[in-house]
Amino acid sequence: MLPGFAYAPFGDLGAAKVAVGPQTAAVLVEPIQGEGGINDAPEGFLRGLRDLCDEHGALLIFDEVQSGAGRTGHLYAYQGLGVIPDVLTSAKGLGGGVPVGAVLAKEEYAALTPGNHGSTFGGNPLAMAAVKTVIEVIADPVFLEEVRFKGAILKNALKLIARRVPGAEVRGEGLLLGLDLGPEVAPKVFDQCLKEGVLFNIIGGTTIRLAPPLTVTRTEIRHALDTLRTAVDTPTSAPSGISLGMPAAAQLRAAVA
Ligand SMILES: Cc1ncc(COP(=O)(O)O)c(C=O)c1O
Repeated sequence: MLPGFAYAPFGDLGAAKVAVGPQTAAVLVEPIQGEGGINDAPEGFLRGLRDLCDEHGALLIFDEVQSGAGRTGHLYAYQGLGVIPDVLTSAKGLGGGVPVGAVLAKEEYAALTPGNHGSTFGGNPLAMAAVKTVIEVIADPVFLEEVRFKGAILKNALKLIARRVPGAEVRGEGLLLGLDLGPEVAPKVFDQCLKEGVLFNIIGGTTIRLAPPLTVTRTEIRHALDTLRTAVDTPTSAPSGISLGMPAAAQLRAAVA
């Protein structure tokens, strides 16, 4: 919606090279796409964007609203990917439920100083106290290791479940995972899990997204996997066409249709 952006398909370095030039101020990308389908960046894509930005004097901005704040088992996903952005955005898990967002920049690009970008609740003490507490918990290497461990358990189990559905695929890192079951199976599996009291999310109508709280227990993971496995084996419920897994706009289209 913001004017001035040229768009290139995620993962297509050739297209990015066409879109970026000497007039480019910055390249903005999610290191792992969330709403787009839990898409990992292909090998060399982020490094290629880094080089492209350096070549043209553009800033590399990672949108880590979804992938950050410990979600991939690293404090920020870039740390596990080995490509350092100039600026990154953070929100969602950052406040542990308290609404807050932040932009972080390398010292040399931190154009804003206190008071430059005022807003009524910007930097309010309640949100800042929440962020401080969250960071104290999630920046602990032991906590992050546990996130990576739980993510690995979940991903391995999802790969086994994926084998039961032709063409199914598992993507993502840590506790940001997607099980792509295709447009036929995914909505049925989503509906059935919801009936069993396990709420996942569907993105793009094809992919079950798993993004549990980082404090999810191994017992809860086992329960979610059992429910998912049963739903994949016996996707009995007909998709309602309108479900919690659909974005609001898609629900509206379905209702109108
Ligand atoms: C990757 C990503 N960036 C940005 C946003 C928007 O974040 P906010 O609602 O904090 O502005 C979202 C929301 O889902 C998101 O997933």
